Amino acid sequence: MANILVTGGAGFIGSHTCVELLDAGHDVIVFDNLCNSSVESLQRVEQLTQKNIIFIEGDIRKQQQLDEVFQQHQIDAVIHFAGLKAVGESQKIPLAYFDNNVAGSTTLFKAMEKAQVFTLVFSSSATVYGDTHPSPLKETMPTGMPNNNYGYTKLIVEQMLEKLAEADARWSIALLRYFNPVGAHESGEIGEDPQGIPNNLMPYVTQVAIGKREKLSIFGHDYDTVDGTGVRDYIHVVDLADAHLCALNNRLKDTGCRAWNIGTGNGFSVLQIRNTFQDINQVDVPFEYSARREGDVATCFADNQRALDELGWQPKRGLKEMLKDSWNWQKKNPQGYRST
Ligand code: NAD
Ligand code: WQD
Repeated sequence: MANILVTGGAGFIGSHTCVELLDAGHDVIVFDNLCNSSVESLQRVEQLTQKNIIFIEGDIRKQQQLDEVFQQHQIDAVIHFAGLKAVGESQKIPLAYFDNNVAGSTTLFKAMEKAQVFTLVFSSSATVYGDTHPSPLKETMPTGMPNNNYGYTKLIVEQMLEKLAEADARWSIALLRYFNPVGAHESGEIGEDPQGIPNNLMPYVTQVAIGKREKLSIFGHDYDTVDGTGVRDYIHVVDLADAHLCALNNRLKDTGCRAWNIGTGNGFSVLQIRNTFQDINQVDVPFEYSARREGDVATCFADNQRALDELGWQPKRGLKEMLKDSWNWQKKNPQGYRST
């Protein structure tokens, strides 16, 4: 069993990954500045797992804070979630994205090198493929130019990590390219807690269903897809969390830098999501069609064969579980973590 430093561990994907790590017997240290999360998520993780987390409030852009973490704790590997993730915001305040996601990552990698910790799992995104390849997207396809600054920060960090592993064979790095994470822990105790108006489809749907928003706007219905609405590869956050454990096990045995797609390989349209959500959960989600959203592609889904073959990972939860668990979390926590 290992001591794992989880940056951004209080967030949506990080908190679910903490549950899986603790359940697998690992010790977890979370380092998070809480800019998009609260400690309540970690308290709930502790209740769910009946295990303790060491929580350090800190910022990955602060070298001294990170150095202290590595000096004070024996760390075997790092899972790096910390960063900003709002695509639209990244177009308005690019420097904040370069600072948190790129400079923050460099600062973390310097602290790791200083402490001789070379095993890393990095949260990347399907956005690094750009928008020119047809789906299914494969890791053998060249990365493209993401059409927003958020995506660009992910590409820069991926490339930095590839160069790092080329220059120093001690590094062992997993680049996990997530597709569209949704769902929540089946207990409904932890889940996605967006601040303000959600940018992503699933939290928007659940907020309409609970009556917090009037209706869903479906961005475009003239795409070349099954029903004209955009198609994406939605992945249950618990399956995604599990992929981090598989990647960690793989990296603790091997060196170099390698990318894996983490998706189910199935695409669903916005309309299919809305209709299935209504059917499964027996709740209304009124909608209207509106204009296409700038930067969106018609279809994006994964070829996940490399992860299946090399990581021994398999997504276990289908669309119904994703939609049921998203709704369960929303119903139990109408105001997110703020209701407690
Ligand atoms: P999230 O915002 O819920 O979690 C990110 C966490 O990082 C938050 O707890 C936040 O407080 C923390 N953080 C941000 N900047 C920090 C800093 N400078 N120092 C310390 N902590 C900081 O987001 P998430 O959905 O859990 O995403 C986790 C990671 O996965 C991110 O890197 C994101 O870019 C990536 N990712 C997310 C998605 C998605 O759709 N959710 C898809 C692909 C990749
Ligand atoms: C899904 C589909 C929308 C909201 C984004 C980032 C990507 C990654 C995951 C971090 C699209 C449609 C959405 C709404 C809608 N994030 N939609 N009405 O755009 O595939 O990916 O999140 O790494 O980098 O770009 O996800 O959930 O925003 O949209 O019709 O109110 O739902 O047009 O077809 P996306 P999304």
